[in-house]
Formats: sequence, C-alpha cells, structure tokens
Amino acid sequence: MIQKSQNITRVYHRISAEERHTKAGHQGGVVWFTGLSGSGKSTLAFTLEKHLFDLGYHVYVLDGDNVRHGLSGNLGFSEEDRRENIRRVSEVAGLFAEAGVIAIAAFISPYREERRLARDIAGERFIEVHLSTPLEVCEARDPKGLYKKARAGKIPDFTGVDAPYELPEYADLVLDTGARSVEDCTAELTGLIREKFRL
Ligand code: ADX
Repeated sequence: MIQKSQNITRVYHRISAEERHTKAGHQGGVVWFTGLSGSGKSTLAFTLEKHLFDLGYHVYVLDGDNVRHGLSGNLGFSEEDRRENIRRVSEVAGLFAEAGVIAIAAFISPYREERRLARDIAGERFIEVHLSTPLEVCEARDPKGLYKKARAGKIPDFTGVDAPYELPEYADLVLDTGARSVEDCTAELTGLIREKFRL
C-alpha cells in the first residue's frame, strides 16, 4: 500500500494491552479462516462465535459476504480488489485483537502474501485455519448457486473455477469439513483457542 497521508502523528492509548486482556479474561487475537467458497468458513465461524460467546469470550466474526456490504463495498473480485479487501480486514482484525476481542475472520483470502500480512499485523496472537474441503465437495454443496453460475460463465474470476487459490503452507490447523462435523471442528478449534489466548 502506498501511504498517502502526510502530517500525521501517532497518539497513544492510556490503557495497555495487558489491562484490556485482564478485563476480558483472555487475550485478544485473530482466528483466520481461509478456503474456497462453500468450504464451510461462515458456518464454522458463526458456530464457533456462539460457542465461545457462551463460554464467556469476547468474540466477533468478520465475514466476507458481510464486510463486502460495507467496509469493502467498493471492491470487486479482481486480484487487486481481493488483495485490498484482505488488507482492510487484516487491519480491522488487528484492531479487534488489540481491543481484547477474538476476531474470527472468514474470507477466501486466496493469496499467500495477504494472509502473511494478516499474520504480521496480529503478531503472536494469530491462528490460521485452512478449510481444505475439496473443490468437488464445495461445488456439490453450492449453497448460493454460485459455482453453477460460474461454470455457466455468468460470474467471472470465480475462485477455484477461473481464479486462483494459493494453498496455505503454514496453517496452524487444517480442517476438511467434508470429512468432519461442525461440532467436531468447533471442539478442536475451541481447545486451540483456549490454549493460545489464555492469560
Ligand atoms: S476474497 O477473495 O476477497 O477473500 P471474500 O471472502 O471477501 O473473497 O468473498 C467471497 C464471497 O463472495 C463468496 O463466498 C461468494 O459468496 C461471493 N462471491 C461473489 N463473486 C465471487 C467470485 N468471483 N469469487 C469468489 N467468491 C465470490
């Protein structure tokens, strides 16, 4: 990103990250879901959010389809726009983490470089989860009928059809929702989050 703003000076908070975490009862952080459309990101993200909330966690889902109605409403699905979408969301997720919240980000996020950026912004408190559900399974599910449209040439640049998805190399967890239940995945994630974000 080219920094356009000039004559700006950082102003510092009078509350430390530790103070915020102590109040929340856990550290803030980012749980980043990446995977194809239909791989189960949103289902798992919202199930996990509810589960963690009920356990007393401060948690909030940032979801691709939702963010694209507001923050990223002026972006499409070209490579450049997807990179900008993930850049914005990475910054927002980082702010949530700083505020003591666990941000669950659910985005295709097809490019390694931007996923790396998201990790760099959050620092230590970042978990990358690859939903490795195979394309055939995602396409058979086709919950929004988008694969059908994409195959018919009605949606250009559709991930997995005619736009790339760069496989994660260093995911902290790989989950195939075609082979495992939502409950099972949620339980494993909860264990990881409890450990990673404890005080
Ligand atoms: S990302 O590539 O920039 O990370 P994001 O997760 O925000 O994508 O949005 C993906 C969602 O947008 C999909 O779940 C799908 O509902 C919708 N969508 C619309 N057009 C496309 C497209 N060309 N490729 C992928 N998803 C698309």
